[in-house]
Amino acid sequence: MGYSCFVLALFYIVLLHLCTQRAKGADPTAAGFTSLPLNSSNFVIQRPYDLPQSARYSFINGVHRLWVYSTDKPHSPTSKTKPRTEIRIVGYDYSSGVWQFEGHGFVPNGTTGVCVMQLFGAYGHATTLMMRVYNGTLTYYRTPIILDIYDRWFRLNVIHDVGAGEVWVFIDGVLKLKAPDHGGASHYFKCGVYAQDKDSNYMESHWKGIKVLKKM
Ligand SMILES: *[C@@H]1O[C@H](CO)[C@@H](O)[C@H](O)[C@H]1NC(C)=O
Ligand SMILES: *[C@@H]1O[C@H](CO)[C@@H](O)[C@H](O)[C@H]1NC(C)=O
Ligand SMILES: *[C@@H]1O[C@H](CO)[C@@H](O)[C@H](O)[C@H]1NC(C)=O
Repeated sequence: MGYSCFVLALFYIVLLHLCTQRAKGADPTAAGFTSLPLNSSNFVIQRPYDLPQSARYSFINGVHRLWVYSTDKPHSPTSKTKPRTEIRIVGYDYSSGVWQFEGHGFVPNGTTGVCVMQLFGAYGHATTLMMRVYNGTLTYYRTPIILDIYDRWFRLNVIHDVGAGEVWVFIDGVLKLKAPDHGGASHYFKCGVYAQDKDSNYMESHWKGIKVLKKM
């Protein structure tokens, strides 16, 4: 009896060890996702319609820098929205599946009342998700996510599971929010600066290492 108990105990210890190793290694932003090819043709820069791209956007050493003033014009002459300078990712609009945006963002002190990343497309709303900055706090719409966001790089991962109707937000690899999506038939990712309420006169964000991933 002693021997078989010992073998059984050993078996469970090994099983437990394997399970904890698996749990440690299971990064939900990596597991099962494939990074899709992206090049400059996938990045359309939306900016005040009366200005050249170089007046509100630069791409130097792999860093996209986007800025806008609260007094700027919208991105098209017919638009009634507030000013924006945003990267609109094209080529990967989706209506089903599990998709993910990854990017390293930076928001300088003073930029406030602004959307820095959005998941476009919803039913009865414009967006499925907006990550904004108000007075140094990174928010999901108006819900605080991270209190101290100014002047540092952070990694943002947003997962949208269309079938489950859910969005997941990770900051620096840590799950910070799970929320229902807002329906809608077609979606895409954007990042940059898009003025919201109580916007500062000047708004800026930087982005690097942008990836679009999909669960295959
Ligand atoms: C970008 O990728 C697309 C296919 O995904 C390809 O057709 C195009 O030639 C590429 N453009 C550049 C500038 O590499
Ligand atoms: C941002 O700038 C203001 C005004 O210069 C300063 O008072 C504040 O401490 C700064 N905040 C951070 C997080 O650096
Ligand atoms: C940000 O701070 C300013 C000045 O203290 C304040 O007027 C404004 O209401 C704050 N905005 C938000 C969204 O808390």
